[in-house]
Amino acid sequence: MKILVIGDIVGESGVEKAKIVIPQIKKEENIDFVIVNGENSAGGMGITEKIFKQLLNCGANVVTMGNHTWGKKDIFSFIDEPQIIRPANYPKGVVGKGYGIYECKNKKIAVINLIGRTDMNVLSENPFIKINEILEEIKGKYDYSVLDFHAEATAEKIAMGHYLTGRVDIIFGTHTHVQTADERILENKTAYITDVGMTGPEKSVIGMDIGVSLKRFETTLPEKYKLAGGDCICNACIFEINDEKRTIMKITRITR
Ligand code: FE2
Repeated sequence: MKILVIGDIVGESGVEKAKIVIPQIKKEENIDFVIVNGENSAGGMGITEKIFKQLLNCGANVVTMGNHTWGKKDIFSFIDEPQIIRPANYPKGVVGKGYGIYECKNKKIAVINLIGRTDMNVLSENPFIKINEILEEIKGKYDYSVLDFHAEATAEKIAMGHYLTGRVDIIFGTHTHVQTADERILENKTAYITDVGMTGPEKSVIGMDIGVSLKRFETTLPEKYKLAGGDCICNACIFEINDEKRTIMKITRITR
């Protein structure tokens, strides 16, 4: 089983890049299942139904979200679709779901989305407690488990990796838009990377216009963010599982 993970897709130009790159990688690498983080795909904040459908049409099986889940009100019309999940540690009663179980090659893949609490400005429940509840709920109902931990702090993500070693098969981080080079297989049990990176404008400050970002840093005035133009890069990761032995074999980082 080969699972492709595409990091935060930033803006409509990032979506266009994903539409080209996902089918290419799927074909070249014999990918079976694709997870993309779509929380920045519509204008840098949120997702629309049109983009959600475009991502599914180009090969995504699941779209995960993050702190910009509610950035576009359009989301309320399709949040109940099975292929979109939002952080599971929002308060009880919030619309949408925090995980989904998907069929692929006669296997069931549980995909879970959580949001961090360090420097995130989101009043979420404790992800370290929430994940235990979820794993209990889905016990015996899946073959492989994958977690998108959408968080700012590297320490919080690394801690989650160690916390879930041997309990979740694949853990990847999103949100910082910078791919980290720390991919590893923890205790030969859990594939882990702190951040997959972004798919969005390359000449930018994490996808945003350089001039606007510099003005904010120089003046501290609340200049409105603007997406950067120009060519896009795609940061992604491929996770390979040996289905017979049910072990993680390999993690490959990709930049295109
Ligand atoms: Fe984010």
